[in-house]
Amino acid sequence: MKFGELLKSAAAEGKEKHVPVIEIGEARAGEGTDVVRVFIGKEVPHPNTVEHHIEWVELYGIKKNDQVVNLGRATFTPVYTNPNARFQINNVEEFKAFCALGYCNIHGVWQDCIEVE
Ligand SMILES: [Fe+2]
Repeated sequence: MKFGELLKSAAAEGKEKHVPVIEIGEARAGEGTDVVRVFIGKEVPHPNTVEHHIEWVELYGIKKNDQVVNLGRATFTPVYTNPNARFQINNVEEFKAFCALGYCNIHGVWQDCIEVE
């Protein structure tokens, strides 16, 4: 088995949604850098109970020379924290794509990527 075979994407979704959504936003006043937001459950919130929840998301940036940069990880506490993270990214223009992983304690590891110009 290869690890990549375990990563699920949109085609594997059921009624609960797990695929991480990646959005790039411009800096807010005073922040100075762009923000990449990673969250799960854009249209259908994922359950957030002790028994069934999203434990973490990770964000990776793919540079134009294909170097993969781990940009950060956010961990969440079930019940209290929703799976929604904002990463402030310097030099966002150096990246050609962003990829994210998200982990559900019941349904495994989910992936998605977005390409930027
Ligand atoms: Fe789940």
